[in-house]
Amino acid sequence: MAEARPPPNFAMKFFIEKNYAMLSQQAANFVAQRLCQNPNLVLGLATGSTPLGLFKILAEKFKKKELDFSLATTFNLDEYCGLPLAHPQSYRSFMEANLFSKINLNYKRIFFPSCSLNSCQDYEEKIKNAGGIALQILGIGRNGHIGFNEPGSKFDSRTRIVRLSQTTIEDNARFFNNIKEVPSKAVTMGIATIMEAKEIVLLASGEKKQDIICQALAGPITEKVPASILQRHKAVNVILDKTVAEKLT
Ligand code: GLP
Repeated sequence: MAEARPPPNFAMKFFIEKNYAMLSQQAANFVAQRLCQNPNLVLGLATGSTPLGLFKILAEKFKKKELDFSLATTFNLDEYCGLPLAHPQSYRSFMEANLFSKINLNYKRIFFPSCSLNSCQDYEEKIKNAGGIALQILGIGRNGHIGFNEPGSKFDSRTRIVRLSQTTIEDNARFFNNIKEVPSKAVTMGIATIMEAKEIVLLASGEKKQDIICQALAGPITEKVPASILQRHKAVNVILDKTVAEKLT
């Protein structure tokens, strides 16, 4: 039997941009506005290729002295298990190369989940102690994952170690020399952790994400499509390019 379609979520705001450059600009304006309103902003960060344009513009804005990150705190969504932090493909290295080395965050306020024993609960505590995530940036995997919450992840899941799906391993192999180098496990904030962020910015671009964006934002809310839970969040800003939004409109 087909699952019931969800009622439209009027809390979800859509920004459909002409191209990836404009999507990145819109996302950067969003983050900049929140940081100016609150210099102590607690920002949740995502990796992947989608937020690269956003990071580039944030770094440019910092260089032009339009932004000051010195009082902000960041929590990254996820990290591979089994890669040394200094490995060029660890998410820590990715963030260092694409954002942290270019702005003035205080390194004491940069946080990553870790695969080491008992550290998942600790990560949740750190988020809580920082006052919770005010603004969470999200990309989306081709299979609907957010962070590394793969299809089937429980909506009440919290930070934990997960096994990556074959689709994700294949998609992320492009960053490694070959597919065998892609770790099979990762640590990720849970779906419930992400849903506790006060505000969310979801970014997606390009033809490859058309179908999953449609399923996640206009289809049934189901653990089979982890990002579909965002339909229940009270403050989601969806920033898409025209191509990815094509099947939605
Ligand atoms: C990875 C990350 C996700 C990200 C996704 C999409 O698997 N863990 O947080 O959203 O990839 O990546 P891309 O933006 O490169 O399509």
